[in-house]
Amino acid sequence: GQGASEASPHPRSAGESHLNTYTWQEIQRHNQQADQWLVINRKVYDVTGWADRHPGGRRVLTHYAGEDATDVFRAVHLELDVVQLYLKPLLIGELAPGEPSQERHKNSQLVKDFQELRKTVEAMNMFDANLGFFFLHLAQILILEVLAWLTLYQFGSSWHVTIFIAFLLTISQAQSGFLQHDAGHLSIFKKSKWNHLLHKFLMCHLKGLSGTWWNYGHFQHHVKTNIYPKDPDSKLGPYFLVGDLQPKCS
Ligand code: HEM
Repeated sequence: GQGASEASPHPRSAGESHLNTYTWQEIQRHNQQADQWLVINRKVYDVTGWADRHPGGRRVLTHYAGEDATDVFRAVHLELDVVQLYLKPLLIGELAPGEPSQERHKNSQLVKDFQELRKTVEAMNMFDANLGFFFLHLAQILILEVLAWLTLYQFGSSWHVTIFIAFLLTISQAQSGFLQHDAGHLSIFKKSKWNHLLHKFLMCHLKGLSGTWWNYGHFQHHVKTNIYPKDPDSKLGPYFLVGDLQPKCS
């Protein structure tokens, strides 16, 4: 691909793999939308041509262009075995043997701590959702919505009734806000599709918002939390600024 001419390939001595090897210095040069590489488990992928077809959107990939994306890749894809099938055609090489697994300015101890935390949380089964809890949560929301409609149907739209209904709907809308968040994070069901179905029902049908819009923004928030300007939730400049320094777009 386009990288081959720029990279300095050091073919491995013998055996299984004949991948080109790259240093971080080389990889970090490919950090633009028009030329983006990223690293997952020490393997280097050129995602330039594929970014527009990425189901999670182009932007999250560009946020990681020229960087190690191992942990974030693991975190955002629910059905890893399926997602991994798409990796093979994008593979262009691997990190040179002497290179650290993350960019040099990253705190490798912090990365190691995070990976250990993930393992502990997995071992504690904390990623296995209790479906009974989520069913009751959904039931509570639907009961309040139906109750509001029935009240309107039965007692008309006087001020008293309207205020009572507003009370019911405020609770149900706040609760569906929490539940849509869990579904949007794909954390209820093991299948990505079921999470998306529930998410669409809650967002599009109950709340009148776009689930895709929310996911697109919220995944950016989680893959680059509080990193200005990549995290859209950190762009509060038009409303207010906190701290002593004016944020700058570079
Ligand atoms: C080259 C590496 C990557 C490949 C081959 C890949 C592939 C895929 C595939 C096949 C899906 C659809 C999964 C599904 O519907 O269950 C997906 C979704 C997604 N990917 Fe990636 N991805 C890559 C890298 C990344 C990176 C680095 C990020 C974040 C920084 C990311 C963020 C997402 C997000 C947010 C979704 C949407 C999840 C959803 O709403 O279901 N991906 N990706």
